[in-house]
Amino acid sequence: MLTVHDFETAARAKLDPVFADFIAGGARDEITVRANETAFGALRLLPRALRGSAARELGTTLLGSRASMPILLSPTAFHKLVDPEGESATARAAAATGTIMIVSMASTVAVGEIADAARAAGGPTAQLWFQLYIQPDLEITETLVRRATDAGCTALVVTVDSPVLGANERNRRNGFHDLPAGLRCENLRDLRDGESGHVRQIVMSPELNWGHIDWLREITSLPILLKGVLHPEDARLAVRHGVDGLLLSNHGGRQLDTVPATLELLPEITAAVAGRIPVLLDGGVRRGTDVVKALALGAAAVGIGRPVMWALAEGGEKGVRRLLELLREELDDTLALCGASGLNDLTPDLVRPAWSGRL
Ligand code: FNR
Repeated sequence: MLTVHDFETAARAKLDPVFADFIAGGARDEITVRANETAFGALRLLPRALRGSAARELGTTLLGSRASMPILLSPTAFHKLVDPEGESATARAAAATGTIMIVSMASTVAVGEIADAARAAGGPTAQLWFQLYIQPDLEITETLVRRATDAGCTALVVTVDSPVLGANERNRRNGFHDLPAGLRCENLRDLRDGESGHVRQIVMSPELNWGHIDWLREITSLPILLKGVLHPEDARLAVRHGVDGLLLSNHGGRQLDTVPATLELLPEITAAVAGRIPVLLDGGVRRGTDVVKALALGAAAVGIGRPVMWALAEGGEKGVRRLLELLREELDDTLALCGASGLNDLTPDLVRPAWSGRL
């Protein structure tokens, strides 16, 4: 396993093709899925020379959470589809690497159990954030927030790009509509008194609006990030509504197809928030050079989605740990080659569009 793409190849050789399609796939024609990766390829790095340092500092603090590098695990559902230990294995790998894992609300292990696994591997400082789909039943949503808080999650990542579920036509063709028998979204178990053993379905809410964010702001003191804001006007609104950070994401191309690549939107979104809150980005990050391009253009950190699923499928906890170490090596190497001693040295002048061929 020498590159992120090696994990995908190895995972595909192991996995039921229906599950591999679920991971790889996106909405409709998957135009945005491809655009995310292509966007990184359309930029070039312009390094500085003779600005050497013996070591590079990769660590950073994001909304009060310490991270050994600016690469997070974006929330991905259903880890038990690809590994029997599921999210517990992923959490151990993230904690051992000192990396923040954003636990999906649709995890197949309960967030409390994931947190126990993280702390066993990474000690009390293991960092977990919790991804939330606000449920139309606010009482249920509040219980979910309490569960995540009690488990020690240090931020909430509210996904706002899913008023309805994206139409993944690969899943439709494959007849993949639900988790296989025995697997459940464990965070939704026993949410109300007297519901012993009952597991609710996650509901996508087409009525979601800023009022829900204001409500959430009132019931929790955890930092709130919005995941999936794409329009600069919404980024400004997020600041006005007291949101603490943005995760600029198009859900890996799994929601509205034909939206721009996240990297393409990054300059507009960072300009809109004007440094008032941090902007993180996910979608198509596969190389250390991708991380550097995003940070140079103003991202505070990046997230990875599919690579984590591929690595978990390939080698369980060890696979995910290897993946994270590989990306850390690539990031460190890219910083050195760019003449950067730390993340603050990554400035927009290091990035330019690929040559159009016109002089
Ligand atoms: C996701 N993503 C996602 N996002 C979210 O907010 N809640 C979720 O439960 C999931 N589940 C999920 C499952 C799988 C299999 C994938 C591939 C993705 C989206 C994810 O957080 C992230 O935005 C993208 O995956 C980032 O793009 P890359 O790194 O996959 O290109």
